[in-house]
Amino acid sequence: MSNSRVTRKQLLLGAAPAVAAVPLGGYAVASAAGADRTAVHEHGDVRPGHAAMIGADVPAPGGPHDLDGLLVPPPALPHSPGRVREYTLTADDREVEVAQGVTFAAWTYNGTVPGPIIRATEDDLLRVHFVNGGAHPHTIHFHGIHPADMDGVFEIVGPGERFTYEFPARPAGMQLYHCHATPLKKHIHKGLYGAFVIDPKEPRKPAQELVMVMNGFDTDGDGENNFYTVNGKAFYYAKYPIRVRRSQTVRIYLANLTEFDLINSFHLHGEFFRYYPTGSTDHFEYTDTVMQCQGERGIVEIDFHSTGTFMFHAHQSEFAELGWMGFFDVVD
Ligand code: CU
Ligand code: CU
Repeated sequence: MSNSRVTRKQLLLGAAPAVAAVPLGGYAVASAAGADRTAVHEHGDVRPGHAAMIGADVPAPGGPHDLDGLLVPPPALPHSPGRVREYTLTADDREVEVAQGVTFAAWTYNGTVPGPIIRATEDDLLRVHFVNGGAHPHTIHFHGIHPADMDGVFEIVGPGERFTYEFPARPAGMQLYHCHATPLKKHIHKGLYGAFVIDPKEPRKPAQELVMVMNGFDTDGDGENNFYTVNGKAFYYAKYPIRVRRSQTVRIYLANLTEFDLINSFHLHGEFFRYYPTGSTDHFEYTDTVMQCQGERGIVEIDFHSTGTFMFHAHQSEFAELGWMGFFDVVD
């Protein structure tokens, strides 16, 4: 895939704002040509702003609203059996900026990694038009309950072809979707996945709702991730903390689509939360850390006791230092 020389170790030494106050020996940036090619520039001193943990000086790609569409789900609709919910997903090969100055030659649904949030209410008829605009055969495999011929395993959609998936949305919870063409590891790691939220018949109580898809990017093709993110951009929520209200429950639809590493995790500072595995039952755990295998997902509900700035991150420290960390800005 590339001839990059950036190793995980070098990135850990250089690319992480989390290692504040430590003189940084290397810093990874992409060449102007992009396309998987990265280079390490050695320098002996701390770059101004490089060690910032939070705010404008954090090296994260994108503007303050670039990830809004992947963070904030469309609103839930009331239960209305048989209503049709239609989406169009187009597979598209595209370079995406996954860390500041570092691009990744992704395979995307609708141009982003993760792909768009699909949302339906239980008993809606979900209709997803899939257009393969990429150079490889792809599918969409949905987690949840559906007929065998809507499973996205056998119905391979070639480049230039299309397929329509249609089934009643169930069960309620945080589901997900991903390509199921082979080699599966490659099709998932390249970026073909996203969140699929199914709302229950009885609406959940009001909350500020967020979606976080945990993932990783192997930008040098060595079979190990060089960056870890939620919603596709390393350190993004450290540069742009998420503003929430103490008076309102924060509900996070959380999923793990990280390839190469066995697990990923979500840890919150200064607070506990309810974690509903899959979100399909009332069963929850009261904790400040959850781990998920690839394909696992669930619903996190936080009622903040205090205002202030609270960190959230993978509790694999290495993942946090390679991009998977951010902050909530809790206000009244
Ligand atoms: Cu695929
Ligand atoms: Cu799966």
